[in-house]
Amino acid sequence: MTDPKRYLVTSALPYANGLKHVGHLAGAYIPADIYVRYLRAQKRDVVFVCGSDEHGTAIPIQATKEGTTPRAIIDKYHQAMKQDFEDLSMSFDIYHRTSEPIHHETAQEFFTYLNDRNELEIKESEQYYDEEAKTFLADRYIKGTCPNCGSDRAYGDQCENCGRTLSPDELINPVSTLSGKAPVKKRTSHWYLPLGKHEEFLREWILKEHKEDWRATVVGQCKSWIEGGLQSRAVTRDLDWGIKVPLKDAEGKVLYVWFDAPIGYVSATKQWAINNKKDWKPYWYDKDTKLVHFIGKDNIVFHCIIFPIMLKLHGNILPDNVPANEFLNLEGDKMSTSRNWKLDMRDYINDFVKKENGGGQCVDMLRYYLTQIAPETKDSEFTWKGFQDAVNSELVSIFGNFVNRTWVLMHKLCGGKVPILHTEILDENDKILNAEIEGSKAKVETLLEQYKFREALYEVIDLSRKGNQYMQKKEPWIAAKQLAANPDMQKNIDNTMHLCLQLTANLAILINPFLPNTAKSMLNMMKVVDKMLDWENAGKLKLLSIGYSLREPQLLFRKIEDAEITEQIEKLKAGLMKSEAGVQKPADEPPTSNLKSQIQYDDFAKLDLKVATITAAEKVPKADKLLKLEVDLGFEKRTIVSGIALHFKPEDIIGKQVVIVANLAPRKMKGIESNGMILMAEEKDGQLKFINPGEPTTNGSPVS
Ligand code: MF3
Ligand code: ZN
Repeated sequence: MTDPKRYLVTSALPYANGLKHVGHLAGAYIPADIYVRYLRAQKRDVVFVCGSDEHGTAIPIQATKEGTTPRAIIDKYHQAMKQDFEDLSMSFDIYHRTSEPIHHETAQEFFTYLNDRNELEIKESEQYYDEEAKTFLADRYIKGTCPNCGSDRAYGDQCENCGRTLSPDELINPVSTLSGKAPVKKRTSHWYLPLGKHEEFLREWILKEHKEDWRATVVGQCKSWIEGGLQSRAVTRDLDWGIKVPLKDAEGKVLYVWFDAPIGYVSATKQWAINNKKDWKPYWYDKDTKLVHFIGKDNIVFHCIIFPIMLKLHGNILPDNVPANEFLNLEGDKMSTSRNWKLDMRDYINDFVKKENGGGQCVDMLRYYLTQIAPETKDSEFTWKGFQDAVNSELVSIFGNFVNRTWVLMHKLCGGKVPILHTEILDENDKILNAEIEGSKAKVETLLEQYKFREALYEVIDLSRKGNQYMQKKEPWIAAKQLAANPDMQKNIDNTMHLCLQLTANLAILINPFLPNTAKSMLNMMKVVDKMLDWENAGKLKLLSIGYSLREPQLLFRKIEDAEITEQIEKLKAGLMKSEAGVQKPADEPPTSNLKSQIQYDDFAKLDLKVATITAAEKVPKADKLLKLEVDLGFEKRTIVSGIALHFKPEDIIGKQVVIVANLAPRKMKGIESNGMILMAEEKDGQLKFINPGEPTTNGSPVS
C-alpha cells in the first residue's frame, strides 16, 4: 500500500498464563516496536496496540497448577507482562486486556453479526468428554501423542514439540489432563466458521495479491493450509472460562479463544480512542488504513486465514502484511517453558537492566542482539557468547567507539564546540562520507518498509563503521601535531570533526527506532531536543549548528564480561536440571495448601494399598522418564511402569520395600501394561521419596 493515511500496528496478544521469554520478544514485539517508532518519527498517524490474551484453557490450567483462580492468574500475569514490556522500552499506545467488558461486548457483537448473516454453521458432533471431571475436553484439557512428530507433549490444539496445530481427534491415545483418564465421546453442538467457503478469496488475496510482498514463509504456510483443504472451524467451546456465546440456547458455551483474541486488537483500539478522545472506526474500516500484524509463526493460520475471513465478513479492512517470525532457539536447543530452557524477559531485566543505573543501555543491548539475530526467514539462535560478541564487538567497538572518539576529539581539538566547515577544501574522503550520510536514509527506509529489520540495523551499524574508517583515514590527531608548524591544519581538523558530528546526529536518528535509549543519550550529549530525531532530518548535513557547544562524552555501552555470560549459562543449565527432576517452576508464589476436596471413608476404603518389594528395575527404551519395575506382593509378582527414571537409578532401588496401590486399573505405557502404582512423597524441590512401612514387613501386608 503506498502512502496510507494511517497505520494500525498490532503485536500478538500474549496469554496471561506465565512470564514471556526473549523468543516471544524477538518474534512479535521488538520488530513491531521498531516499525512503529520509525513511523512515529515520520510523523505518521499510527496506533500500536497489544494486550493480554486472558481466555482459553491455558488460563484455568495454570490456575490449577498454582492452586488459585483463573481471575487471580490473569490479574497477576497481565500486570507482570505489562511491566516487563515497559521495562524493555516497548512503546504500545495501549496494552489492553481481553477480560475487559468492552472486549466482551466487541467479541459478542462480531459473533452476532456473523451469525445473524448466516455466516456460521451449527453442527452437532461427538467430542471428547471426561466422565470423572464431567466436562468436555477442549484444547489443552486433552493430551496425547502427536500424529506429526510422535511427541507425547501434544495437546488438543497444538503440539508443544513441533508446533503443529491439532484438533483433539488427531491425537493418538488421548487422555484427559484433568483426570488422566481416557476420555469418552459425547454429543454436543457448536458454531462453526466454514473456511472452505472462502477458499477463492484466500487464493486471490494471499497467493496472488500478496505473493510478492508477504514473507515467503508466511505465503508458504498459507498455501499449504489452503491446499490441504480448508475445514470448518468451531468458534465455540463447552467451557466455563471465556466470553459467553450471546445467544439464549447457548448455556455453558463460550467463544473459542482464537475467535475472541484477535478481536482484542479491535477492542484495544476502541479503548485507546476513548482514552485519547479519538475516533477508532477509520482504523478498522477505512481502506486507507494500513493494518500490520506482528506475530510468531505458530500464529500464522489465525492471522492470515481465520481472522481475515472474520474481518471480511464483518466489513472491516484486511491486514496489509503479517510479518511473522520463525522461532528463536537458545544455546543449541528449542526454547521451552515446560522444560525451563528459556530466558525470561524478567530474568534479563533483573540480571542486567535493574542492576545498573542507566539500565537503558542494557535494554538496548538486548534489543540490538535480538534484532541482529531476528528469525525473519528461518529459525535462529540466541547464545550468550553471541550476545557478548554483538555487544562488545559491534555496539561497543564500532558504534559506541565512533561516537566516543568524535566527542573526545571534538573537546580536545575544537574546544567542545561544533567547528566550522571549510567547504573550499573538502577532499575526496569528506565527499564520500557526505554521500554515505545522504544515502543512508533511503537504504534504511527501504529495508524497514519491507520489514527487513536485521538488514536495516546492519546498515546503521555499517554507517558508523564508515565513520570509524573515515576518521582513521583523516587522522585528526596527527593533523593536531602539525598545527604548530602549519596553522592551516586546523581547517582540516575542523572539517573532519564537523562531519563526524553531523554523522553522529544522523546515527542518532537512524538508531532511534531500534535503540531508543541510546538515541536519548546521544541527544543529551548533543544538547538538542527530541525534535531532531524526526525522520525527515536523516540524511541532512547541517543538523548541528556551527559554534554550538556540546556536552562531555558519555559512554553509550559497557562491555559484557566473560563472568557474566558464564553465570547466565550456568543458571540456564541449573534451571533445566531442576525442571527435568520434575519441578514446576514456583513462579514466585507462596506455597499453597493444595488440599483436595473432602472424601468419605468409603472413598478411601476403595483403595487397596499393599506392601511390596521391588525385585527388578530397568529403563524403558525411548522414554527417558519411565522405569519398568517388577514388584513382589508375596502372593504374586507384578509389573509396574513408573515415571521416576529421572530420580532413581534402577540398580539403587532393587530390594526396596514400598507401598503400592494394588487395585488400580491396568494402563499401557509405551506398550507395557502397568498394574498398580507406587506411592511417593514429593519434596518442594521436586525430589521424590518412596513411602515404606518403616520397618521390614511381610510383602502383601495391607496398609490402611
Ligand atoms: N495468545 C496467543 C499466543 O500466545 C496469541 C494471540 S494473538 C491474537 O499464541 F491475535 F489472538 F490476539
Ligand atoms: Zn508434534
